[in-house]
Amino acid sequence: MESEVAGSRIPRFYKMSIDERVRAVHDKGLLTEGDVDNLVSGEATLDLSAADKMIENVIGVLGLPIGLALNFLINSKEYIVPLVVEEPSIVAALSAAAKLVRGSGGFTTTSTDPILIGQIQILEIPNVNRAKAAVLEHKQEILDLANSFHPRMVARGGGAVDLEIASYPLESMKGEMMVVHLLVDTRDAMGANLVNGMCEGVAPLIETITEGTVFLRILSNLTDRALATAEMTLTTEQLAGKGFNGERVRDGIIIAADFANVDPYRAATHNKGIMNGIDAVAIATGNDWRAIEAGAHAYAARHGRYGSMTHWSKDENGNLRGRIEIPIKVGIVGAQLESNPGAAMNLRMIGVKSATELAEVMAAVGLAQNFAALKALATEGIQTGHMTLHARSVAKAASAPAELFDETVDRLVRSNEIKVWKAEEIVAQLISERNTGTAQRTLTDADTGIGYGKVILLGEHSVVYGRHAIACPIPLAIHAVVEDHDKGVELLIPRWGIEYQLTKPPEQRRYRNPDQGRHRRRATRIEPRRCNKPEDDRRQISD
Ligand code: MEV
Repeated sequence: MESEVAGSRIPRFYKMSIDERVRAVHDKGLLTEGDVDNLVSGEATLDLSAADKMIENVIGVLGLPIGLALNFLINSKEYIVPLVVEEPSIVAALSAAAKLVRGSGGFTTTSTDPILIGQIQILEIPNVNRAKAAVLEHKQEILDLANSFHPRMVARGGGAVDLEIASYPLESMKGEMMVVHLLVDTRDAMGANLVNGMCEGVAPLIETITEGTVFLRILSNLTDRALATAEMTLTTEQLAGKGFNGERVRDGIIIAADFANVDPYRAATHNKGIMNGIDAVAIATGNDWRAIEAGAHAYAARHGRYGSMTHWSKDENGNLRGRIEIPIKVGIVGAQLESNPGAAMNLRMIGVKSATELAEVMAAVGLAQNFAALKALATEGIQTGHMTLHARSVAKAASAPAELFDETVDRLVRSNEIKVWKAEEIVAQLISERNTGTAQRTLTDADTGIGYGKVILLGEHSVVYGRHAIACPIPLAIHAVVEDHDKGVELLIPRWGIEYQLTKPPEQRRYRNPDQGRHRRRATRIEPRRCNKPEDDRRQISD
């Protein structure tokens, strides 16, 4: 059994205070004393004068949280992955997915050389075929010239390594244009400036060789020569949980992934989930996430139609297997990284030795993020932890009949046992009550209350303003639960899928139902129940 404190595992990390978390990461040797001071004091952020040198017209610095995804085991190496992102659940979902995957040996990743393509567009060529042949003939001369501008990159084992040529007719002008691709291994640098510089540097030579006119000289963000792959396998035993059996979860994930393959509307969302993780690492490590986004989506459309960045299948042993192949051109050295101390700290924490290793970690993160999203979508729904929505999915999974559905959801929520077996038990109980005419009265349990609709004829509600009012109760009610648990007081209205955190300031309280309006309207139209004796509960109306 692995040691509890080994590698990227930090048990109960989420329960610690920020200071304790920082200390725990420091104790693993991933942060310096200086990092600890900066993080704890809230100063591990870009200072204003550095920001002013980065872009133009600076007026301030915007903060974003840095969260750590734990548990990553990739090619037998442990990683704690810093993520800079504003969306809740991403960090937790990644840590949970990585923990599961390490149980079956972790992620396996690969990468190609970190090649970036520079494009040189040539117009007004007298004879395109002759020009193509001439470029190939002078290939070494062009590469040598490109490398002469960056001898240090060549000394580090990188530099321009190859050329490719294509030609296209253009609508905007007569004749064909030609494009020369300069393939440059940029080693640990992202390499954008370097490649742009090489393209500009070789342009006059290319004009001479082709007898044409060079127009654009710029790198391509379709970085399909800098690919990273990641793979993971999970057994059905690992996939089972929360009332769902492993085979069902596996098949659900495969079907969900298929949806993304056939439908670009779903593919966009599916891939957005993948990029949730990849972008968060890119931002944390000071990399150009827009470039990575552009390349990843263009690559996802390489077969002529936009599709999924991942592939999910069942292997010969019935396990779920996931794979991602994605262009990720990142750097771990360079001015952009050095000018932001937060990015340097995050790179130290992630502990990669090369840009390709970082790309591989990011591929594993993207795959894990996709797994977490698909698992949630294929089982309890994406509003994980949201009790009422979860209860509705579980009631659906238990095939609760339409006429018993709401009562099943109500009872599930109050049972605190939101599982398929419990829902089945409740359905059986409800059927038996219906058949024997022994329906329980469920609205007056000690922990629930009834809010009646009312029409105020004069004045305002006495509870709010302490004044007299004439109000007329409407004998319709919705069943609500008010709970006081460790996160504070919460109002649950299972039938409306609403969980409202009363203890938070108004702007942070949120209805967890993502489509609150629709459910509310539907609820008020078809779901209110008639109460036999509103006068019995009059005290509750005004208290
Ligand atoms: C939300 O940020 C990402 C998801 O929509 C991804 C997906 O649907 O696969 C949950």
